[in-house]
Amino acid sequence: MIPQSKWPARLDFGHAPETIGFWKRLVSEALLLSGSTPLYLFSALPIADCLAGLDSALVAAGFSPETANSPLKISFHHWLSFKTQPVAPLLRWWRGLNRPVEVVSEFELRAALAAGFPPAMILVNGPAKHRWLAQFQLPELSVNFDSLAELDDLLPCAQRLNWRMGLRILTGEEFDPENPQFPTQFGLAPEAAMVGLKKLLGARARIEMVSFHLRTNIAAASVFERAITEVAEICRAAGFCPQVLDIGGGLPVRSVRSRGGKVYDGEFGLRSFAQSLRQSVKLFPGLRELWLENGRFLSSASGVLVVKILDVKERRGLRQLICDGGRTLNALMSVWEQHALLPLPERSGEEALTVVHGPTCMAFDQLARLPLPRSLCAGDHLIWLDAGAYHLPWETRFSHGHAAVCWHDERGLMLARAQQSFEDFWGGWKY
Ligand SMILES: Cc1ncc(COP(=O)(O)O)c(C=O)c1O
Repeated sequence: MIPQSKWPARLDFGHAPETIGFWKRLVSEALLLSGSTPLYLFSALPIADCLAGLDSALVAAGFSPETANSPLKISFHHWLSFKTQPVAPLLRWWRGLNRPVEVVSEFELRAALAAGFPPAMILVNGPAKHRWLAQFQLPELSVNFDSLAELDDLLPCAQRLNWRMGLRILTGEEFDPENPQFPTQFGLAPEAAMVGLKKLLGARARIEMVSFHLRTNIAAASVFERAITEVAEICRAAGFCPQVLDIGGGLPVRSVRSRGGKVYDGEFGLRSFAQSLRQSVKLFPGLRELWLENGRFLSSASGVLVVKILDVKERRGLRQLICDGGRTLNALMSVWEQHALLPLPERSGEEALTVVHGPTCMAFDQLARLPLPRSLCAGDHLIWLDAGAYHLPWETRFSHGHAAVCWHDERGLMLARAQQSFEDFWGGWKY
């Protein structure tokens, strides 16, 4: 028996009652529409809300929106981070807003083109793109080179096709979050960046951007400040005045906690972040544009995962819910994060320490461990909130097929992807 004093604390994830009501209503509709679980349900409306909050902070700090075209102000541009939430109707919805998209792979580029983005509205990031990008021969792309080898390989093509070019710089603020003593594998270290900038300037290339992406869930605006100062110093030393400063993504999420219960956005305020950016960009004489590539901040709250309880076990004082979806299939993020979990229908009464398991044959497959009402039973649904970032891209087909996906926007609710059929699951084998 596990004594109650050893149970994990019930966390307050800070979701407004309207948010909970919104998702419960939408999930009930989506279950009728899809007829299956596990189910991802994504909505554009929370993305629009986050975007509006960020936009108003940037405008209040003195930046101008991309549409305003004010020659006296630095304009800001949000690039949709494709990899964070690769959902076809989201891409089309974003295209409908006339906003640009950031891609990091051949498939993402193809998908952006198929969704109608002109090359001038596509930014290509990511490592080793000299292995695949030139074949497309797309004029007017924006491309941040990630290494000197990439730059050397792609430069002739980039000049012929009039690409807007930039360098991603590995600042001292960028490291592997799980092993902070090591750098990430991305971008050019300062010495290589100097070489790259001089090469591009010497070749009279259309070099316009300088870029970095630090990591995800950055805890404080001062981290961006330090990175920007470092990049400004490199540009100054190379004699380069960028038109564009691209600060990547990394803004923290609100209603998610680390496994240890840490609040990710505790020290972060959008207004003070925008004000500090306004000060920092003064280090770049002649700067015209500020680019942001936020993924998680914009889309985390825009989705939920719905699983159904299939079986219930109880041993050694622990209640175990075996569900048709979970960590291994649908929510790898649960390795690092705790999210709010809502029973549908509502259940109450005496609680027991409960583990929510997925259906795969691994003890690893645990979405959450927390006190839940004993009245929860097979056939009930559980809604895992904040599944709108980095859940779908990390979906697996471990013993089961892919989940159904419903999409919701101003036009209503749609089944965007049916649950994977057996033929699709197994039919790809050629031999
Ligand atoms: C280059 C780049 N930009 C933007 C992002 C989005 O990051 P986040 O979801 O933390 O905002 C990533 C994520 O890996 C990235 O690699």
